[in-house]
Amino acid sequence: MTDTVWWKHGTVYQVYPRSFQDTNGDGVGDLPGITARLDYLAWLGVDAVWISPIYPSPMADFGYDVADYCGIDPLFGTLAEFDALIAEARRRRLKVILDFVPNHSSIAHPWFAESRSARTNPKRDWYIWRDPGPDGGPPNNWVSNFGGPAWTLDEATGQYYYHAFLTEQPDLNWRNPAVREAMHDVLRFWLERGVDGFRVDVIWHLIKDAGFRDNPANPDYAPGAPEINRFQQVYSADRPEIFDVIAGMRDVLRPYGERVLIGEIYLPVERLVAYYGPDLSGADLPFNFQLIQTPWQAEAVAELVARYEAALPEGGWPNWVLGNHDQPRIAARVGQAQARIAAMLLLTLRGTPTLYYGDEIGLGHVPIPPGRAQDPWERNEPGHGRDPERTPMQWDDGPNAGFSTAEPWLPLSADWPTRNVEGQRSDPASMLTLYRRLLALRRDHAALAVGDYRGVKPGAAEVFAYERFTGDEVLRVVLNFGAAPQSLPLPEGDWTVLLSTRAGRAGDSVRASLALDPAEGVILRRA
Ligand code: GLC
Ligand code: CA
Repeated sequence: MTDTVWWKHGTVYQVYPRSFQDTNGDGVGDLPGITARLDYLAWLGVDAVWISPIYPSPMADFGYDVADYCGIDPLFGTLAEFDALIAEARRRRLKVILDFVPNHSSIAHPWFAESRSARTNPKRDWYIWRDPGPDGGPPNNWVSNFGGPAWTLDEATGQYYYHAFLTEQPDLNWRNPAVREAMHDVLRFWLERGVDGFRVDVIWHLIKDAGFRDNPANPDYAPGAPEINRFQQVYSADRPEIFDVIAGMRDVLRPYGERVLIGEIYLPVERLVAYYGPDLSGADLPFNFQLIQTPWQAEAVAELVARYEAALPEGGWPNWVLGNHDQPRIAARVGQAQARIAAMLLLTLRGTPTLYYGDEIGLGHVPIPPGRAQDPWERNEPGHGRDPERTPMQWDDGPNAGFSTAEPWLPLSADWPTRNVEGQRSDPASMLTLYRRLLALRRDHAALAVGDYRGVKPGAAEVFAYERFTGDEVLRVVLNFGAAPQSLPLPEGDWTVLLSTRAGRAGDSVRASLALDPAEGVILRRA
């Protein structure tokens, strides 16, 4: 296994820093908090931690509006505390991945202040400025991802600037070589400090149509869906020139050795795989969010996996994601029983898995009381806010679940006194134990970490089954997506249960047929 690069056989764990661990009693998580919990991550058995943005920011979009790409926001700590985090992670053989937010800065970034100051300012072209349309309104019909127009008029200079997200998040102009150079310097700044890679925010957005043509209407738009879906994002994102930009980032990483470039990309499979780039010059891991977007149904998931595997370019390494800080939690979407199946799926498919903090204890949907909403999207388009998946990690049954000595910035889930790390740690039937065992199996079995994949006939419509194998070992994963028990034929030979989502079944021998409980998943090894 050690002959593959770490980000292929390893697993990634996403920390939303505001919600992991607070150490200074302000109700918001911080860097020393992450450092304090590295032992937990090592115990859990993940390989890398990706930290959502920690840079100085007015926090209009909770750090995805960066005012200084080479600093740490005082809310999270200091550069010295960041260096300490890196050093402590190293000691535990954990990798650290930073969030890189190149599509837009904060409106408070000095670059934007300069750009805005005059049409003749040398940094004018660092952002995207256009004259008003013929009617004096916005230059085209592009809509913000958070609802409303994507253009804001600057009265003083008489031009509009473009922002794919909030008014407070002006888009940088990646067609300008000076912007590319400045951003490459940012990457080098963090690489020199020892980070192991970057998750690049909305990477498919960086280049827009040179002619700023109107986006076509989306014929499938359903009222009530976010306004961004009214149009197909044909001209505002996923443009052909993007691959040159990504190759430029990859070139910056190359001299530093085994560093990973992960790209955030919400596109259908055929477009997604293009982001491996010509001759793999693109993202190492174009984030694959297809499991989030596919109905939770055995046949649909089996078909998705086959389609994705078939679409991968030669040499392109797969990856899978069940949730992140922008998506409803997996347990909220499919329920606790199926969330166990989901964990087994995520950690046994071929490709690098990314776990979202809290999913390993089965955090579900946390209702946000009126008046406590934080996400700006919730204010713009009520009902679409992302607070329910950003609530604090629950560590123990002490005050505020061990997250903070103060009232947390978002509420805990109501069941925190029992749904927490301490309570689940030693419970053989807990979600946490399941995750930890799955992660351990992935480390111990090359077939799971780096082996081949083949779908097999499940023997029942509500079951998804596949094999992971190397020359030495064949493992079979059988997942019951249904609420009925199943009895399934097994190929000849003796099979051993390596792990079941049902506690106490590991070690059992099975022959000829396999009985599954409702919503049970098992990993079998051929003797
Ligand atoms: C990405 C982030 C999201 C953020 C947006 C704008 O989608 O994951 O949280 O709001 O980009 O930066
Ligand atoms: Ca804090």
